[in-house]
Amino acid sequence: MRQRTSPPHLVSKPAFSAHTLQYAFLMLALHPSLQDTLYNDIQDTIGDRLPTYEDFPNLVYPLCVMLETLRMFPPVVAVPRLAVNDELLLGKYYIPKDTSLHYDIVNLQRNPKYWGSDIDEFNPSRFDGRNTPQGETGEKDTSVPEKIRLPAKGAFMPFSEGSRSCLGTCIRSAN
Ligand code: HEM
Repeated sequence: MRQRTSPPHLVSKPAFSAHTLQYAFLMLALHPSLQDTLYNDIQDTIGDRLPTYEDFPNLVYPLCVMLETLRMFPPVVAVPRLAVNDELLLGKYYIPKDTSLHYDIVNLQRNPKYWGSDIDEFNPSRFDGRNTPQGETGEKDTSVPEKIRLPAKGAFMPFSEGSRSCLGTCIRSAN
């Protein structure tokens, strides 16, 4: 049983969204062809009318841009945990009580084992599940729309995972 050692962002949630948007705009500025893909995807989905909340799951490429931004530039770079008891982690690592552990989100999300050799390339399409036949997708996650493809469970954790993971699911994605 572990608990978080400190509240990671009780006052900084808007800053996380701002951080993500800043990097997304920077990446789009550096990759003009992706701007066209993004624009065309939005046009195909909502055209010139105003978007509604119901459009959100169908705005697949915009969501891919956000997820790829969070993969490369996660606002929370490490998540702390404190061992409240002596623990044997994964059956082989002895963790004494009161040890503070931090899992490294940045390197996890740039690990070629899970992401392939193009880890340093900004490639939102890696999250686009629209052209992926059934059975070839990664782990299913009910917090993201069906058309989104995720890698192996545990390889993408900008919002952490488990019982203390981010509660801002809808708001953070809609932002
Ligand atoms: C890009 C935006 C965001 C990122 C990357 C993010 C990431 C995270 C992370 C890494 C945690 C720590 C979870 C853990 O300790 O395992 C967390 C917790 C939390 N987040 Fe976010 N977050 C974002 C936006 C938001 C928003 C907009 C809200 C609410 C409006 C929110 C509400 C919360 C709450 C309430 C917790 C604490 C959950 C708990 O302790 O049980 N987050 N978030």
